[in-house]
Amino acid sequence: METMSDNLSDNPSRPYREERLASNIVLMGGMSSGKSAVGWLLARLLGYGYFDLDALVVRRAGKPIASIFEEQGEAYFRDLEHQALVELAPARSHVIALGGGAVVRDDNWDIIAGLGTLVWLNPPPEEIARRLAVHGPARGGKTEAALRSRPLLADLADVPDLELRQKQLLERIKALVGQRADRYKKAHIVISDTFSTPESTAALIRDELIKYGSFKPGHEHRPFDRWHIL
Ligand code: S3P
Repeated sequence: METMSDNLSDNPSRPYREERLASNIVLMGGMSSGKSAVGWLLARLLGYGYFDLDALVVRRAGKPIASIFEEQGEAYFRDLEHQALVELAPARSHVIALGGGAVVRDDNWDIIAGLGTLVWLNPPPEEIARRLAVHGPARGGKTEAALRSRPLLADLADVPDLELRQKQLLERIKALVGQRADRYKKAHIVISDTFSTPESTAALIRDELIKYGSFKPGHEHRPFDRWHIL
């Protein structure tokens, strides 16, 4: 069977790095940085498969993340998250959206670093806070739901003063990104601008991947080793 590496090794002058082309695109970043919204669009643009680490954990646990935190605690969630990463490790030609905190544990990082090209979605914290608040009272009060579904922000849903809540939300987002920044900064590609739509961000990342040598235009629908989680 012809493999991707056979094709690529035919042309020694190609600017692409074989191992980069054959591996995954990993989206890292804080909560609401756009990893999931952008991830599946990017996968479609590249012709790759798509995995969302949080979704895998939810599927395995059979309940939402907020319930896992509430009923079994964060440490249990982190163990499930690690297990999901172990299962993902053999994946190839996938876009993989990580949960914001997945980068913290060293045993996770060992896996993540080997998954492929790392992309840090790093919009300004103000933009993240704005996104989380945009469904506020004027839009039916969905901010509370958005906060409650994120265990590390959930307590802020109980702050009645909206101005104070927004201030605390911004501080919390800054603190979480700050705690994880050493890992996020190891990304090969950083996307820092305030993007207007998930589509435009996906297109921007695709352009950056081409420049970095992790994606080759025209190979969008090339066959890849389909890899499934059972
Ligand atoms: C977390 C981020 C969440 C989810 C969990 C913990 C974190 O994922 O994994 O609530 O520690 O930042 P998203 O970044 O996709 O919201």
